[in-house]
Amino acid sequence: MLFLKEANLQDAEQEYLLFRDIPADENGFVNEWPGVSREEFEAMVLPAMIAHGKGEGLPAGYVPESWLFLWDDEKITGLFRLRHHLCDSLREGAGHIGYFVHPRHRGRGYASEGLRLALQIAADIIPEDEIYLRVSKDNPASLQVMLKNGGYIHHEDEEKFYVRFRKPLCR
Ligand SMILES: CC(C)(COP(=O)(O)OP(=O)(O)OC[C@H]1O[C@@H](n2cnc3c(N)ncnc32)[C@H](O)[C@@H]1OP(=O)(O)O)[C@@H](O)C(=O)NCCC(=O)NCCS
Repeated sequence: MLFLKEANLQDAEQEYLLFRDIPADENGFVNEWPGVSREEFEAMVLPAMIAHGKGEGLPAGYVPESWLFLWDDEKITGLFRLRHHLCDSLREGAGHIGYFVHPRHRGRGYASEGLRLALQIAADIIPEDEIYLRVSKDNPASLQVMLKNGGYIHHEDEEKFYVRFRKPLCR
């Protein structure tokens, strides 16, 4: 069974096995702590993720953000970042949700199903009428994941499509 579970200390080992392989930036999915050791992950990264989900310990100008690991039964296959509301930079930029699927698990529908689950959570917590996402034009797989989940291209610039999902979602 697939489910999203917020970052937590109990699952540190599994979470690290996914997290250690996320590069600093892949197609706009940003890892602020690339290359951390297992010890640093548990002592520094995980506490920060947990705090950010509660709106605590955020860098200046950042909004609360939940770090949601995508589980398939006993294993973690991906990570979703869910910003709880927009600010000017998110409205013009990355929007509410970002996601990463481990290269080992790509091409099996994990991003598609994970985004479906993340959108349901987002629809319940974000105050805006629409859920905002952004995707690079050279990332057709991610655009397909968004369109499959009911997103529409609201506008574009030279490099990116800006995709939105109307609330309420069709579930
Ligand atoms: C993009 C990413 C999330 C996709 O994850 P995934 O689990 O492989 O995605 P899925 O298997 O759910 O779906 C991929 C879809 O893209 C389609 N696809 C793959 N390559 C494609 C291409 N070159 N052109 C068009 N569609 C493509 C697949 O056919 C599939 O659609 P389908 O189910 O309708 O057949 C993953 O590659 C990743 O984590 N990349 C790095 C980070 C990233 O890009 N994040 C998104 C930032 S917006």
